[in-house]
Amino acid sequence: MGHELTIEPLGQVITVENGQTILDACLRAGIWLPHACGHGLCGTCKVDVVDGEVDHAEASPFALMDFERANGKTLACTARLMVDVVIEAEIDEDPDQRRTPVADHCATVARIEDLTHEVKGVRLALDGAIAFQAGQYINLQIPAVAGTRAFSIANPPHEGTYVDLQIRRVPGG
Ligand code: FES
Repeated sequence: MGHELTIEPLGQVITVENGQTILDACLRAGIWLPHACGHGLCGTCKVDVVDGEVDHAEASPFALMDFERANGKTLACTARLMVDVVIEAEIDEDPDQRRTPVADHCATVARIEDLTHEVKGVRLALDGAIAFQAGQYINLQIPAVAGTRAFSIANPPHEGTYVDLQIRRVPGG
């Protein structure tokens, strides 16, 4: 169950599940919205709500000020839909752009090697092939560890059945 979200100026309509953020739903639908922190802190993902009502949730009062809320702005990375909603976003349409929807995968550790005294090369074998472009990253979630960590993918895109990560040991990290 969820609500419909219309994204202008694209005119695309997607379903946003209850509790899902606008940003997450768009990225999973292959619609790229500008964003950075992903946690309601930087304001990069600000969009206009032109119809409907959203819950701003954990949006920082500095990233989304009171007058902006009053003027129909919200942060796509925190906003949840209360009803069907129409947003207007700043989307640069690049004809050469390749859209890769965000997706979840499970993986097992296939290899760990020492690259330097403080950097490990970790290969994760995926449950299915993924499509990605050079420069993209994954958010890694480890069972029993809170939150996610972002790591750049270190292998080339034609090797889509696994990801290689270069992970530096950080004291307390
Ligand atoms: S991405 Fe930083 S506030 Fe949404």
